[in-house]
Amino acid sequence: QRYRDSGVSEKMNPFAEQEAWEEHQIGKASLRYGSKNKKQDLTDYQYVFEDGIDFIKASVLDGIQYEDEMAGEPEVSAAKSLSEKLQEDKKSLPIFPYREELLQAINDHQILVIVGETGSGKTTQIPQYLHEAGFTKDGKKIGCTQPRRVAAMSVSARVSQEMGVKLGHEVGYSIRFEDCTSEKTILKYMTDGMLLREFLGEPDLASYSVIMVDEAHERTLSTDILFGLVKDIARFRKDLKLLISSATLDAEKFSDFFDSAPIFKIPGRRYPVDVHFTTAPEADYIDAAIVTVLQIHVTQPAGDILVFLTGQEEIETIDEILKHRTRGLGTKIAELIICPIYANLPTELQAKIFEPTPEGARKVVLATNIAETSLTIDGIKYVVDPGFCKIKSYNPRTGMESLLINPISKASAMQRAGRSGRTGPGKCFRLYTAYNYENDLDDNTIPEIQRSNLANVVLSLKSLGIHDLVNFDFMDPPPSEAVLKALEQLYALNALNSRGELTKVGRRMAEFPLDPMLSKMIVASDGYKCSEEIISIAAMLSVGNSIFYRPKDKQVHADNARLNFHTGNVGDHIALLNVYNAWKETNFSTQWCYENYIQVRSMKRARDIRDQLEGLLERVEIEITSNPHELDPIKKAITAGFFHHTARLQKTGAYRTIKNPQTVHIHPSSGLAQVLPRWAIYHELVLTSKEYMRQVTELKPEWLVEIAPHYYQLKDVEDSSTKKMPRGQGKAPIS
Ligand code: CDP
Ligand code: MG
Repeated sequence: QRYRDSGVSEKMNPFAEQEAWEEHQIGKASLRYGSKNKKQDLTDYQYVFEDGIDFIKASVLDGIQYEDEMAGEPEVSAAKSLSEKLQEDKKSLPIFPYREELLQAINDHQILVIVGETGSGKTTQIPQYLHEAGFTKDGKKIGCTQPRRVAAMSVSARVSQEMGVKLGHEVGYSIRFEDCTSEKTILKYMTDGMLLREFLGEPDLASYSVIMVDEAHERTLSTDILFGLVKDIARFRKDLKLLISSATLDAEKFSDFFDSAPIFKIPGRRYPVDVHFTTAPEADYIDAAIVTVLQIHVTQPAGDILVFLTGQEEIETIDEILKHRTRGLGTKIAELIICPIYANLPTELQAKIFEPTPEGARKVVLATNIAETSLTIDGIKYVVDPGFCKIKSYNPRTGMESLLINPISKASAMQRAGRSGRTGPGKCFRLYTAYNYENDLDDNTIPEIQRSNLANVVLSLKSLGIHDLVNFDFMDPPPSEAVLKALEQLYALNALNSRGELTKVGRRMAEFPLDPMLSKMIVASDGYKCSEEIISIAAMLSVGNSIFYRPKDKQVHADNARLNFHTGNVGDHIALLNVYNAWKETNFSTQWCYENYIQVRSMKRARDIRDQLEGLLERVEIEITSNPHELDPIKKAITAGFFHHTARLQKTGAYRTIKNPQTVHIHPSSGLAQVLPRWAIYHELVLTSKEYMRQVTELKPEWLVEIAPHYYQLKDVEDSSTKKMPRGQGKAPIS
């Protein structure tokens, strides 16, 4: 049940009076299409759908400045070279006619807010225009930030193609743990988080002539912090140009923040979009999305489909089901090409979504929010919008951050619908009712800064010398409770002293592009003489949950292979270390990965990350030390970083977090899921059907008082269910 209160009757539906759209009764005997005059025998398709979904056309999103002569795609003859075609494409973009005007405005004003519909050419063209206009003379760079790493990679690839240069040379990108730039790079695309890190090394960004904060409407945590920082340096670096670009029209807020900077609007070119709602709420949006895609595929004219989903798992599920169902239909339906796109999609597969769809086939792009404004995929005519996305939320009281699937905002819904009307009139199918839209969706998404753990940001700002966080120039300030919590957490981690100043530990931590808990774990490994092991663990944890591979038909084998690394119930952290070391011993063999149901791609990424962490250790002057036969020091180093994440077993078999009590469970994928140690330390909490701890290791409670005496007292860790720990056993704190 997605919308608990949405049992709305048709009569209450404000749009119900309007003309009903094509009625589908798929799964019965026939399908009525286009006001009942086109009948199609559906017996062949019957088993495609359990039940069709009824949609009702509710509104039309008006096209913006519809230009008839632009209606058709320019014809491209096969004889044209790729670069000729690219040059033509560039000229057909909505931004192109405004090139001179835009450059003039940039010359006239130090700060400019640029607004333009997604796909108008802001991200790919503006840096090129600036380069052509001489902004990269005397070796200066143009920097363009993106909230998402996939966007940074894909856009820079496109721009390097357009400029006919090799990616990583004149045009490059920089994302966490991956720097694809060189001495030559003059157009640098990067995640907003990476630019934030560049401030640490170059506080005035002297090597840049222009900074373009792109996708500003996304209001990510890093973008919001960047706003304050770039505004500040623009005051004393008058030669620096600042562009704030956004896909949405509420640019006044940006203009106000940047001292009434002028707004440059790129007139859009969007075709009208018919928006359809379901007539009744859908209980299962995954199933509804699949049915709708197939419905479109068999009933609608040519044109590609874009489906918005919340994450990789959902995308993979739908990918699999769609493949299965269309395979069953064989040649009875046209070919359906399924293209997933999400943040962790391997680079070599990312390009596939931009490939033109072959004649007679249809492409369906299964995307996360990334396709909302960050990436433009040409040829999309149909959008399927289940109305959800993953949203981070943070509870400053408990200090817990979680990623939850939430309804999107109305602004997002509009953006999503707009994606279908870029190259011709489009249709958007919302898998929720008009009533839900009106009543359950907020107008806008709350900026991330107001729903995040700020420890990382506070640490970065402190290391930039910004101590007065209360008076930092925020567009929307974070809740003071969250700032306080971050200070508290950093103090407990020994990154700040009691006056709130950065300690030596804190300065070292700030060098690592990791969450403070992970950085602390690494810095603490120095004292436990196990930095070699700890950076392997940190690298493996940073890869995410894609190390082990569990094919549906070989689950037992895969699980057995996985348990091999857990021998002795060492816990998940040590198991990750075992995997890494075993792989290293085979000289990083791919075959070994296959045999052990391990994803070789994730391992390679872990190795890259590990190499970089090793470099950073050197920078903060931590020696590589190893203690392979003693597990306790390794576990203590983990505890030094993660002592906020601890839980104690209850009689019920569930766990309770030690501070800010909350009921949690060991994730079934953990090697300790059957073991249930009395005390546990975990890497993260994930909420699925229950609140689960992921990556769990057994903990000795006395370590808490020893390692984090600011945070734990003896009474917190006394084990009332068994023998009490003798008083006075807590050792002197070491860190
Ligand atoms: O930033 P904005 O949304 O205004 O547009 P853009 O990202 O600069 O995209 C302009 C054009 O480049 C669109 O027609 C995209 O389809 C195309 N593009 C592409 O073909 N491949 C990419 N990786 C990125 C953009
Ligand atoms: Mg863009």
